[in-house]
Amino acid sequence: MRPFEWNLETLMVVGAGQFSRLGEVVKPHGKRAVLVTGQHAARKHGWIDAAKASLKKAGVECFVYEGVQSNPRTVQVDAAAKVARDNRCDVVIGLGGGSVMDASKLVAAVALSGRKAADYLQGCESGAWKELLPIEKALPIVEVATTAATGAEGNTVAVITNPEAKEKCVVWGPAILPKAAIVDAEFTTTMPPDVTAGGAVDIISHVLESYLAGTDKADVQDRMTEGLMHIVMDYTGRAIKNGKDIEARENLSWASTLALCQISNAGRGTDAWPLHFIQHCAAAYCDFHHGQGIAFLMPAYLNFVKTRRPDRLAKLGKRLFNAQGADAADQFTEKFSAWLKDIGLDKGLSDFGITESQFKTIAADVVRLYGPGDGTLPGDEIGPLSTSDIVGILKAAL
Ligand SMILES: [Fe+2]
Repeated sequence: MRPFEWNLETLMVVGAGQFSRLGEVVKPHGKRAVLVTGQHAARKHGWIDAAKASLKKAGVECFVYEGVQSNPRTVQVDAAAKVARDNRCDVVIGLGGGSVMDASKLVAAVALSGRKAADYLQGCESGAWKELLPIEKALPIVEVATTAATGAEGNTVAVITNPEAKEKCVVWGPAILPKAAIVDAEFTTTMPPDVTAGGAVDIISHVLESYLAGTDKADVQDRMTEGLMHIVMDYTGRAIKNGKDIEARENLSWASTLALCQISNAGRGTDAWPLHFIQHCAAAYCDFHHGQGIAFLMPAYLNFVKTRRPDRLAKLGKRLFNAQGADAADQFTEKFSAWLKDIGLDKGLSDFGITESQFKTIAADVVRLYGPGDGTLPGDEIGPLSTSDIVGILKAAL
């Protein structure tokens, strides 16, 4: 096991029906809240009115920004931060899925600093990110997770897209760790099947990436990963078949939080997330849903890992699928790919308009935005990925 620190300060309020407690959860952190949310679901389902009512009861004023899109843009962060600054807000609430929660995190920083959102993006041309990251100052944040996918409610990271530069980048820092989060699985009963499936794969990827790239001397983390993967694979089909299956939804929601609240990957000692970084850069060109993009790239990525670190895949094959024999790694990739097909995520990049002619540009973006500057992408124990490795993965996922 590699050394780590774990200090999860976030108050997690977990359980069906807990959204009604929003006001009391926010109250210790501010009196004037900007509620950041998406463009449709929160209004359609009455969540904004419910949030306002709960906040009013607790004596918290509420100002709403409802313009965040999937793959949240810098312009939306700036607009929400303006609402916060114009109304002298002292706390930020994110009410939505990963896109909304990620946007709300950067809103909290921008609202306080008055900078542009684009300044914070890792790798931005101005170079401002070198002084702004890690984010040390932001308004307090309270997240309400309405999907089971990103686990953004329990970590210090956000992913934001700058459409002008065609860059989807990471921001991070201790100040954007939410002070509190509500994980109420009742929200997730409205997730359509394709979003449920994409979210499930995203959850798995959050533990699988470091399982594949990190040290193999972290058994607690290995067992947590395997357990979370097992749970997600068990319950996703149920949630797709019957969206109102609250037992399935609660298990997926809690797995989502656990997968990325800094504990499941602690001790692996790796920041190498090749699959995510390739997906981020591909998504800047086609705007597919994050979890679905991860799923479409996953079989190609697993086959790549098999050439570098087959022992990790073999271990998963044995433990998750009871695979026996020398081809346990192959059995894992085959069975996992079959599960992706079962939940309807067996498409290719070409289904979303990405063409082979874009691969070199995407690969160059990946190493520029997420590499150490030597033309490679870190893969930790998998070894560094070159641009031709990345192009190979993209081709295999076409
Ligand atoms: Fe993800």
